Amino acid sequence: MKVLVVGGGGREHALAWKISQSPRVATVYVAPGNAGTEREPGVRNVSIAADDFDALIGFAERAEIDLTIIGPEQPLVNGIVDRFHRAGLKCFGPSQKAAQLEGSKTFAKQFMSRHAIATADYKSFAELSPALEYLRAVKLPAVIKADGLAAGKGVIIADTLQQGDQAITDMLSKNRFGDAGKRVLIEEFVGGEEASFICMVDGEHILAMASSQDHKAAFNGDTGPNTGGMGAYSPAAIVDDKTHAAIMQQILRPTVAGLVAEDIPYTGFLYAGVMIGGDGIAKVLEYNCRLGDPETQPIMMRLKSDLVTLCLAALDGTLDQQTATWDARAALGVVIAADGYPNAYDQGQIVKGLDSAYDESVDHGLDHGLDHGIDAGVKIFHAGTKSEHGQVITAGGRVLCATALGNEIEDAQRRAYALAKSVHWEGCWYRDDIGHRAIKQAVK
Ligand code: AMP
Ligand code: GLY
Repeated sequence: MKVLVVGGGGREHALAWKISQSPRVATVYVAPGNAGTEREPGVRNVSIAADDFDALIGFAERAEIDLTIIGPEQPLVNGIVDRFHRAGLKCFGPSQKAAQLEGSKTFAKQFMSRHAIATADYKSFAELSPALEYLRAVKLPAVIKADGLAAGKGVIIADTLQQGDQAITDMLSKNRFGDAGKRVLIEEFVGGEEASFICMVDGEHILAMASSQDHKAAFNGDTGPNTGGMGAYSPAAIVDDKTHAAIMQQILRPTVAGLVAEDIPYTGFLYAGVMIGGDGIAKVLEYNCRLGDPETQPIMMRLKSDLVTLCLAALDGTLDQQTATWDARAALGVVIAADGYPNAYDQGQIVKGLDSAYDESVDHGLDHGLDHGIDAGVKIFHAGTKSEHGQVITAGGRVLCATALGNEIEDAQRRAYALAKSVHWEGCWYRDDIGHRAIKQAVK
């Protein structure tokens, strides 16, 4: 089989790497991919942008692609899956209508209210003065969200009226988030611990992926502005069996059934970002119509089942006949970012150390003599990289994700950091505390 992955980030590298291991797959193509997918055995980059639907469909037809998997949200929200299906091509992801769950926070909120799915209280505004007035009527901190897609950066937690006023003004009158910020939501702040609950859905049936947790804030101790995600691990200790069952029962099943009832059945990866309170009750903070980035990197490290088989079963509506099996070990990924990220960042630096052996001396002698790769249970996934004259050059804010398996989360963390230390470019940086919540939990 030939499989096409659309996108060029760390999530897509992890998907392509995993799919290339399928005995059913001869070649994986990635459009446009990055320097990591270009170097991956069995994987080839195709230089077509993720938003060029005509060119992607033309390529899929010419190359006789058997299955296309869409990574990022933007093409999904713009209807790429509908276009592929109209052309008679197999494509895994939600329709444009179903992808509104992520594409419009107002849609998602109204949907949750129609189907009694727990979420934070909110109000949505397109006009400045009623929004500013409402902010004065709610408890602080309040959460200000751009309605549309903003690459994980359209959410501001306002501790003071001044911060709230600024966020609202930036969105509604200064157009800082473009069309995404033409409408804002002012939401109740929900306390607790976050988890990423990602599933595969075939319209009707739900197959949960392993749980995971992201670290959205830029800096150590979960401080600083929100980013696309600075690191992730799987499983998330907070999602124990009871919480898992409750999230399926109270969130995922009503979501999937609600979409069927509204005649927009959902096929694809579905990601519920949940906040789990001290009482164990989970509320939905957001839906994503795709896999998380960087959650996908540790999740794919742990997935033992054939992902292609699961996607094809989902497209056939037979996901209920499938199971997903997971490596019992934990996996943890540390995002290595460019100088300046999440604001304007430096690009064009040469990445050094990618081809050197994994430094086991830093790893206290575990896994003797193993190099980078699946056998060692360590893998550097690329995100914002490109190749130039045979070298890997930084070309994005989140550049790499150093990901490792370990018997316990502490082992995975230690190994991921040892791996992260083996690569370098000028100004590169990462958080030092990815996994801190799970490790605290394990020590308890
Ligand atoms: P979202 O893109 O809606 O998930 O928001 C990004 C991040 O902001 C989330 O991952 C949370 O860390 C935080 N956040 C969003 N909504 C809330 C809320 N209502 N209460 C507390 N934190 C929130
Ligand atoms: N890592 C969070 C997201 O993909 O939305």
